[in-house]
Amino acid sequence: MFYPEYNKTFAMAEFQDSLAQSITSLRAKAEEAARTIATTDALEKFRIEFLARKGSVGQLFEELKSVPPDVKPKYGKLLNEFRIFVDALYQSAKTKIESTSAETDTFIDLTLPGRGLPLGTRHPITQTLDDIKSIFVSMGFGVVDGPEIEDDYHNFEALNFPPNHPARDMQDTFFLDKDVLLRTHTSPVQIRVMKERRPPLRVIMPGRVYRNEAISARSYCLFHQVEGLYVDRNVSFSELKGTLVAFARAFYGSSLKYKFRPSFFPFTEPSLEMDITCFLCSGKGCRVCKQSGWLEVLGAGMVHPNVLRNVGYDPEEFTGYAFGIGVERTTILRHNIPDIRLLFENDMRFLKQF
Ligand code: DAH
Repeated sequence: MFYPEYNKTFAMAEFQDSLAQSITSLRAKAEEAARTIATTDALEKFRIEFLARKGSVGQLFEELKSVPPDVKPKYGKLLNEFRIFVDALYQSAKTKIESTSAETDTFIDLTLPGRGLPLGTRHPITQTLDDIKSIFVSMGFGVVDGPEIEDDYHNFEALNFPPNHPARDMQDTFFLDKDVLLRTHTSPVQIRVMKERRPPLRVIMPGRVYRNEAISARSYCLFHQVEGLYVDRNVSFSELKGTLVAFARAFYGSSLKYKFRPSFFPFTEPSLEMDITCFLCSGKGCRVCKQSGWLEVLGAGMVHPNVLRNVGYDPEEFTGYAFGIGVERTTILRHNIPDIRLLFENDMRFLKQF
């Protein structure tokens, strides 16, 4: 548009008129558009249509350039106010969208049922260990730990295994060094406890042991034992048997059938093994019990005088009994588990059943 200098008054009037019209119609349009904004896309469309440099409001500012200088300030002021107004429309639409989307994001339906969290279970071996411990603790035994890496002295020599004695072959040993090994049983803890304390002594010593054996359904290269030791004046063999029967009844149930067999261990004299009726065949004879009807659950005996001497006790003054319970064997019997390896594979489908 060209606005001749000579007709200022006219130009002014004409401008104000067309400006007022433009603004009024644009204002109605912007208000209507702002009302219906519901998404960020629509919000952006609004910004581009009205507020961007090439938008409708910007276009009006373009026209300001060709306006006669004396009406320019007035026109400019009006336009500025209008731009602020449209910008306010944009801002409030923006706030509205942001607050509604924030609300839907954080909305929590407290009436929904909760999601169940999968709970872990204790490993069956841990459960057996805990149960054995609590039975013996209730009979007055304390609980002691010992190292899994042992030396020949504690694992064999002090326990009355003479050097080169064939009894050492009973236990296939993992040697770490000439004199250092993974303990093959928990009996070395007996030596450590006796050397550290004086009678009366009544402790159990649970833990992991290792043997270099062929892995099968019945044996594994590592397993657990609970060692027991009672040393005092006048400890008798019948006390040992009474304690073992009390334990077996508490653990397997009072209707349990058991028997004691004479046995041999270098560190006990006399020695015995305790059998209970096979869980699978109830004593008829099957694959698990090797057709005998019985399963061995522990070894025990009176502490050998040589062992007492080795730890500095006088065998004339003190006597004691000791026992060793196989934890895996016990767990298998308890739960009718067909293969010992299941206890070490950590298959969740197996472990979740306990
Ligand atoms: N240490 C024996 C083993 O590993 C088990 C054992 C037998 C422990 C008799 C004892 C015991 O304390 O008196 O086969």
